[in-house]
Amino acid sequence: MKTTGGTDDQKRRAGERAAEAVEDGDVVGLGTGSTAAYAIRALGRAVDDGLDVVGVPTSFDSRHLAREVGVRVGSLEGVDGIDLAIDGADQFDTQLAAIKGGGAAHAREKVVAAVADRLVLVADPSKSAETLSRSVPLEILPDARPAVERDVVDLDGVPTLRRAEHKDGPVVTDNGNLILDCEFGPIDDPAGLASSLASVPGVVEHGLFVDLADAAYVGTDDGVEVRTAD
Ligand code: A5P
Repeated sequence: MKTTGGTDDQKRRAGERAAEAVEDGDVVGLGTGSTAAYAIRALGRAVDDGLDVVGVPTSFDSRHLAREVGVRVGSLEGVDGIDLAIDGADQFDTQLAAIKGGGAAHAREKVVAAVADRLVLVADPSKSAETLSRSVPLEILPDARPAVERDVVDLDGVPTLRRAEHKDGPVVTDNGNLILDCEFGPIDDPAGLASSLASVPGVVEHGLFVDLADAAYVGTDDGVEVRTAD
C-alpha cells in the first residue's frame, strides 16, 4: 500500500541530494517509488553532464525510468558489487529500521540494499516515526497464502491480500508472487519481528529493513535533513 503525505518538492530535494553522493565509476542501486525516481532522474542529468555510472534497478519501473533518462542499466548478476543504493521508504524509525514494499518491490530492493556498501533512504518527513507502525508487506508464493496467513495470525498479525487498483484480483509482483499487508500495531522489536517473518515458509521476503540503512535523506520545505541512527 502506497503511503500518502509529503510533497513532491520534499521528495525531489531528498532524491536529488542522494544523487549528488554518487561518484564517477559507481555502481548504484536504483530504488523504486516516487522519491527514488527523483534520484534516478537526477542521475540521468548527471550522466548527460559526463558522469559514468551503472544502475542496478529494483523493479520494472526503475529499470524503465533509468533507460528513459539515459542511465546505463546493469543487473545484479552482472556486477561485482554495488557502491551505493538509493531507495525510498514507507516508514523509518530513529534507528533507521524501515518498512518498505508499498510498491511491492521490496524483495529486489532488499537484495540490492544488502549487496550495497551503503544504503541511503530518501523520504519526505511523513515517513519518519519514533516507532514503526505501518503494515508490513510480505511477498509470498501464491500457493502458500493460506499457510502464511495462519502463521501471521499466530504472530498476532492481521494479514490482508493486496488487491490491484486497475485490474480485478490481486497485485502480482514483478516476480510473479502475491503481497500480504500485515498489521502488527506498533513494532517495538523490528529485528525480532523480522526474524520471525523470515522463518515463515512461503514468505519470499518481508518488508522490514533492519540494520541496512546508513543514512536517511529527508527532504523538507527548504532543504534536506541527513539522519543517521541514534
Ligand atoms: C517500493 O516497494 C517501496 O519500498 C518504496 O520504496 C516505498 O513505497 C516508497 O515510495 P515513495 O517514495 O513513492 O513513497
